[in-house]
Amino acid sequence: MSPEKQPATSRYGSNAGQPLTRRDGILKVTGRATYAADNHPEGLLYAVMAVSRIARGRVRSMNVDAAKAHPGVVEVLTPANRPPLFHDPNEKMPPFGFRVEVLQDDSVRYVNQPIALVIAETLEAATEGAALLDLQYDTEPARVGRETGIRFDPPAVGIGGPPKTAHGDIEAGFSNAAITVEAEVETPPQYHNTMEPHAVVAEWDGDRVVLDMPNQALALSCASYAAFFGIPVENVTIRSPFLGGGFGSKAILNGPQILAILAARMLNRPVKLALTRAQMYGPVGHRGQTWQKLRIGMKSDGTLTALHHRSLSATSAFDDFLEPAANASLPLYASPAILVEHEGMRLDTGTPGPMRAPGEASGSAALEVAIDEAAEACGMDPLAFRLKNYAETEPATGKPFSSKALRTCYEEGAARFGWSRRPLSAGQMRDENGLLVGWGMGTAVFGCPHFPAEARATLRADGTALVETGAADMGQGAWTALAQIAAEALGLDPDHVEFHSGLSTLPDAGIAGGSGHTASAGLALNQAGGDAIAQLSDLAVNDPASPLFGAGNIGLTARNGRLYRRDDESRSESYAEILARSGRSDVVGTAKSNRDPTVAAGHALYSHGAVFAEVKIDPDLGQIRTTRLVGAFAAGRIINPRLVQSQYFGGMIWGISFALHEEAVTDKRTGRIMNADLAEYHVPVNADIPPLEAILVPEDDAIVNPIGVKGVGEIGITGTVGAIANAVWHATGNRIRKFPIRIEDVL
Ligand code: MOS
Repeated sequence: MSPEKQPATSRYGSNAGQPLTRRDGILKVTGRATYAADNHPEGLLYAVMAVSRIARGRVRSMNVDAAKAHPGVVEVLTPANRPPLFHDPNEKMPPFGFRVEVLQDDSVRYVNQPIALVIAETLEAATEGAALLDLQYDTEPARVGRETGIRFDPPAVGIGGPPKTAHGDIEAGFSNAAITVEAEVETPPQYHNTMEPHAVVAEWDGDRVVLDMPNQALALSCASYAAFFGIPVENVTIRSPFLGGGFGSKAILNGPQILAILAARMLNRPVKLALTRAQMYGPVGHRGQTWQKLRIGMKSDGTLTALHHRSLSATSAFDDFLEPAANASLPLYASPAILVEHEGMRLDTGTPGPMRAPGEASGSAALEVAIDEAAEACGMDPLAFRLKNYAETEPATGKPFSSKALRTCYEEGAARFGWSRRPLSAGQMRDENGLLVGWGMGTAVFGCPHFPAEARATLRADGTALVETGAADMGQGAWTALAQIAAEALGLDPDHVEFHSGLSTLPDAGIAGGSGHTASAGLALNQAGGDAIAQLSDLAVNDPASPLFGAGNIGLTARNGRLYRRDDESRSESYAEILARSGRSDVVGTAKSNRDPTVAAGHALYSHGAVFAEVKIDPDLGQIRTTRLVGAFAAGRIINPRLVQSQYFGGMIWGISFALHEEAVTDKRTGRIMNADLAEYHVPVNADIPPLEAILVPEDDAIVNPIGVKGVGEIGITGTVGAIANAVWHATGNRIRKFPIRIEDVL
């Protein structure tokens, strides 16, 4: 593979690095990348889950004898014989703990809950064995939908932050308002539908276990598995070189994988479990449904006086994860009073979890629709309205932003889209074929979390480097961008950097989530590289035979595999020469990194963007098409503009998916999801995606972290959903109250 090399171009912005292609791209497109289920160790057994077909009740009976009598079936794991676990599965495990379903009793709490695990010599035998179990239930009515759910106040400490956040006097804010608008917006349950469903191949050797599984958080998962199985953390090895998508669901533990690992230990043979597509709809998380209510108060000139965002978010009957949707109203618009509230609703569903901008995606969809309505109520252009209420400091806290090039995003996106030609009122534009045309916009925003991370950088005698950290590449390009960061720190061409990742025995790269992986693992690589160069410099400046001897206070720079004196660039020496003369085969740099906590305490840390959408709608048939989408995003330093643009495109496509396609539809009688397959759970295909443009707005951020990198993974979804909904209004005059937007909403 010869990566294309170009200097940073103005198209990508001045703070961008090289647009290298993915290091793992050829392996993936030629089928040589191995995923978890591609592993077939000697003596492998196959596990198949029998899952519940009711949403609530108990398992009255199952015919274990029939299953065990089937040729090839080795064992059936049920609550009756399931070996003990060393951590109570009913107890959550910090920091992202969820209650897991691992056959702890005979209760049924959602459809597709694991009820038994059949293990056999072949996949076919295990599948047949699971069918022969003939599960019988005592069924209770399913609590499905808003009418039947049980409301509750969320715990004070949860994954989405506090249940209530107040800034300023909300009542006074509404009293001071000349105009008030209200919007209620419903978002549906959505499921991860990664290309690669969850899978594990577990192989024990005594009390050590090796797990091939897709995983977004290697070290954290090792610790959790160690706790469940009562073994030291170093006895757990997870190999996760490739993930066929993660979307958040592979960052948390789930019951099916624990059961397969248990079975492997019980039978003392390697066991493989690969979930079916249908089984992805329940035990491995999803995005919970929300019902959101927004109330916006403003003066007649459009100045906000109050912003109230309340979300009722669905979760399971037995756990507390809530989509923290209303938090989307905290960082964006400068209202003197903001009130954000969350309430939970228990339904007979699998527990939701993090999924593609959890909270921000659903919350910003509703917020951006409401902001558009507020602009309309003032007779203002939606962009002018947003600029009028542009926040110079974080509205809910008053903290300064570490950087915020949102104004430039608005300007560049609007110019590229041609926003200034937009008629103010709805229903004004038709195309040459008589289709209704609408233009809408939304603001994109996403926070910049940072996770502790570690890395190792070894400079070798031949002048190349080996760089190691247990990062997760879900397709986002971590292998490539992280290697680039390491190469820069080491003063080497990326071609001379070998990058090892995706393995839990490597230094802990932290969590690949929250769009924080490049910044977190990248900082560790930057510092490990710096440590290696510092050691190498010490060797040179203390060696009288080196042209760099005595350069201590003047300092050296590392570039192209050589160290140079800063004050006299004619004096330099290659890494290989320094190592050879000192008799060293290598130097090993290490780092344990984290962001200084005072940074987040003192500043508001966000990526920003603006998304502009055009839709065309058939006035007779109601068919809705996104025909143009322009996003402009500012996310600090851009390591690899090609990959970042690709991340933005991916996020914007998620946005189209959220706005127009995705929804899990539940049968209210049975609690079953009626479209638990990729034929009927709609995600956009190529024909649904218009030409996309993502403008990379330059932004320097010396505060967010020492490498100035913000997140790019999830922000694309946040502005896009609202932009499309607002474009639909602009085409038709119909306000969107429910996602996905349907034909019947525009007729
Ligand atoms: Mo994500 S939902 O941060 O993988």
